[in-house]
Amino acid sequence: MTDRYAVIGNPISHSKSPTIHAAFAKQTSQDLTYTAILAPLEGFEDEVRKFQDSGGKGMNVTVPFKQKAWHLANHLSNRAIDAEAVNTLEFLVDGGIRGDNTDGVGLVRDIQDNLAIMLQGKRILLMGAGGAARGVMTPLLEAHPERLVIVNRTLDKAEQIVRHYEQGDRFSQVSISSSTYDLSGNQFDIVINATSASLSDALPPLPAGIFAPGSLAYDMMYGKGLTPFLQFAQAQGAARLADGLGMLVEQAAESFFLWRNVRPDTQPIIQLLKQ
Ligand code: ATR
Repeated sequence: MTDRYAVIGNPISHSKSPTIHAAFAKQTSQDLTYTAILAPLEGFEDEVRKFQDSGGKGMNVTVPFKQKAWHLANHLSNRAIDAEAVNTLEFLVDGGIRGDNTDGVGLVRDIQDNLAIMLQGKRILLMGAGGAARGVMTPLLEAHPERLVIVNRTLDKAEQIVRHYEQGDRFSQVSISSSTYDLSGNQFDIVINATSASLSDALPPLPAGIFAPGSLAYDMMYGKGLTPFLQFAQAQGAARLADGLGMLVEQAAESFFLWRNVRPDTQPIIQLLKQ
């Protein structure tokens, strides 16, 4: 029987996930359908239960429901626990729901595998401290950067993330700090924009001179042309510029792998979406 999956969000009509997963299924000969479900802002849990009860196997969760999905799932992966956000649900035979977060793995794969830039030993600046930033923290740290600095307009939110990772000694080799000090004078090999500023064509403030020679500027948003952040990075001499399209396809591939135990080849899909 054909297995059913869906992405759920609000809004959802813009989502590329159905296209991506249909392409993955075709490429790997998996018998599945993947649709998009618009949930009312107050109706997320009901829509998930409806899909589960009707025999659905799993769901991707997007804005603004990732935290609700985290609360709904009763088995969570470590990276989802850290992120306090879930983008992948898997419905278990006993009626339980497994929640995972594949965003961070998607980002790390895009940088390391697709852009061929290793994170180990690098100085990383992560801009933003909302759901998108939290979602990528654990996989970034697991890649052993020399240093990871978080900056955010609202300092308190960055400090909360730092406090979470200071508990225990999982990442003692990595220095994490929310930027209470002035960033100017510091240089980074990789600067990642995880704020939602690009959505409103805004540029999160950054001092000049933070891009190290050969550095990568990565905007987790994507769209036509360069985002204001990538324009700024280009003007500041960042050597490589990337938007979040590769991350989108890689996080989808990781969800697909969790559900189907088959890893699709992401390259043809990235090329397809770029056209
Ligand atoms: P998401 O799930 O996309 O991360 P979010 O949780 O609302 O959405 O977080 C949005 C992030 O973008 C926050 O870090 C926010 O900064 P604040 O915590 O200070 O609100 C950041 N952000 C949004 N618009 C911004 C702007 N114009 N300049 C700088 N930061 C901005």
